[in-house]
Amino acid sequence: MGQQITISSMKGGVGKTEVAINLAAAIRKVTGKRVVLVDFDIPYGGIAPALGMEKSVTLSDWIRTRRALNEVQMESLVIRHEKSGIDIVPAIADADDLQNFDENDAYRILEQLSSVYDYVIVDTGVDLSTITKTAIQLSNYVLIVSTTQHVSVWNNHQYKEDLLKMGITHDKIGLILNQVPNQKKTNVDLVETILNVYQNNGKSIRNTSYIRFDEKVRKTRDKKSFMYLDYPKHDFSEAVTELMKNMGIIGFTTELDMRTGWLAQFKKVFG
Ligand SMILES: Nc1ncnc2c1ncn2[C@@H]1O[C@H](COP(=O)(O)OP(=O)(O)OP(=O)(O)O)[C@@H](O)[C@H]1O
Ligand SMILES: [Mg+2]
Repeated sequence: MGQQITISSMKGGVGKTEVAINLAAAIRKVTGKRVVLVDFDIPYGGIAPALGMEKSVTLSDWIRTRRALNEVQMESLVIRHEKSGIDIVPAIADADDLQNFDENDAYRILEQLSSVYDYVIVDTGVDLSTITKTAIQLSNYVLIVSTTQHVSVWNNHQYKEDLLKMGITHDKIGLILNQVPNQKKTNVDLVETILNVYQNNGKSIRNTSYIRFDEKVRKTRDKKSFMYLDYPKHDFSEAVTELMKNMGIIGFTTELDMRTGWLAQFKKVFG
């Protein structure tokens, strides 16, 4: 069975899709394994438009196919993104399909995909629907994306607590703090506050990385490209690498490295 990673947030526009796309491309690049990116941001999703891809097949086709599929049949229900080598399953094509999409379908689809793919990355919307919950329950890792905005930090903190209540253990939860403003002074206060919120307030989670706000990210998205592939040294890409280490996809040097990862990266970016 492949590893499953769900990217989610209780705030919109924070960079979930951006992180999901880059993480998928990064895993593919460093491992050469089979990676599929599934859009569970229902109904319309963001992956196909973000990559400028036609929705020639979508989740709708998976929903309608209520049976076990073999590998060849599955391959006809994903779209290959040539530049990155990842496969994608765009969100549903028709709002009518919503009525036919429930947690059993979500379970079946994800189980089938992870029987063939080494990595199944699920992008989600801002919701805790039974579909999102199913993705979370099946995941080896849940990545929360937040910005530094007060509402985002606190809603996502609440979300982290709810994940723990759902039985997701803290070592399976990571956080990316995205779109961090570029002022040094503000950031020193921010890092302390946010570390406190996520680590000392309730149960500490397996923390991850910071990504600064940079117009380059949006411009790269407008070009339908990937920060990780186009700018491997950018802190966006380094954050994705850090994430892969946290998830055990690429090796960590030491236990200390793991514990200090967050602060070390912070200092490197802002120090
Ligand atoms: N660090 C960053 N700096 C600048 N722009 C960013 C950064 N991260 C993401 N963006 C841009 O912000 C926009 C929103 O990102 P994205 O679509 O990934 O958010 P989302 O959380 O998936 O939103 P939604 O809730 O609508 O699904 C995109 O144009 C993206 O390229
Ligand atoms: Mg999105």
